[in-house]
Amino acid sequence: MKIIDNLDAWRRLRQQLSGTVGFVPTMGALHRGHAHLLERSVAENAITVLSIYLNPTQFNNPDDLARYPCTLEQDLQVARELGVDVVLLPGYDDLYADDYRFRVEEHQFSRELCGAHRPGHFTGVLTVVMKLLNLVRPTHAYFGEKDFQQLQLIRDMCETFFMDVEIVGCATVREPDGLALSSRNALLDAAGRARSAQFQRLLRSDLDDAAVARELDRAGFVVDYVETREGRRFGAVLVDCGDRQVRLIDNVLVEQVLQAAMASAG
Ligand code: PAF
Repeated sequence: MKIIDNLDAWRRLRQQLSGTVGFVPTMGALHRGHAHLLERSVAENAITVLSIYLNPTQFNNPDDLARYPCTLEQDLQVARELGVDVVLLPGYDDLYADDYRFRVEEHQFSRELCGAHRPGHFTGVLTVVMKLLNLVRPTHAYFGEKDFQQLQLIRDMCETFFMDVEIVGCATVREPDGLALSSRNALLDAAGRARSAQFQRLLRSDLDDAAVARELDRAGFVVDYVETREGRRFGAVLVDCGDRQVRLIDNVLVEQVLQAAMASAG
C-alpha cells in the first residue's frame, strides 16, 4: 500500500494507472461503514484509493472540528488489511492553495435539512469533493447512504458539471441496536450511547414526523429536524454528553416504516 502526501507524486502515479479506479474519500476515524465502502471498491475496481483529510471548510462549529476523532495509525492498518492500494493524505495548503477563494455552491437542497442547521456545511463538502475527484480522477467513487443528503448533492454536482465518474451509494451500516455507524459515535459517553439507539427506532416508527420529533424530545434529544420527503424520513439530533453535544443524523425508507407498522399491527 502506497501512502502519498505529495500531490505531484500522486499525479505521476495516476498517469501510469489504467483500468478502473475506485475512490473512497473520508475524514479518517474509519469504522465498519467506511470498511464496507472500501471492500466494495476493492471488489469492483483494479485500484482503490482512500483519502483521509479532515476538511475544515465543512465544519460550521470550530468545537466540532477540534473534537473530531483522529486515529491515523489505526486507519492505515484498516486500509492495509482491506487491500487498499493508495492512501492519499493531502494537507490544507495542497487542497486550498486558493485559501477557499473558489467554492462550489448549491442554492436549494443544500439549504434544507442539515444545511438549514449547518450554514456553509455543504459548500465545504461539495468544494472538497470536487477538488478530490479532479485530483484522483476515479472511475467510481463510493459514499454512504447515512449521509443521504450529501450523496444526493454530490450526484447532482457531478451530473451538473459533466464529471466523468460513477457515484456509488452504499447502504448504511448499523450497530446491532440499529445505531448508524459514524465517526462521531466515538464521542458519545455511555449514557449518550445507550440513549442513541432510540433515535433510529423512533425514525422507523409509524408516528408522523411531528410526533417522532416530540418523542425524541421527550427521550432527551435536542431535535434539529425530522422530515419526510421523497420516500425517506430524515432526522438529526443532538445528544447531551456532559461537557459536549454530539450530533447524530440518520434516514430510513418510509416503505420500511410502513412495513414495520404493518408487522406490529399483526
Ligand atoms: O462524508 C465525509 O466523510 C465527508 O463529508 C467527505 C465526503 C469525505 C468530504 O470531506
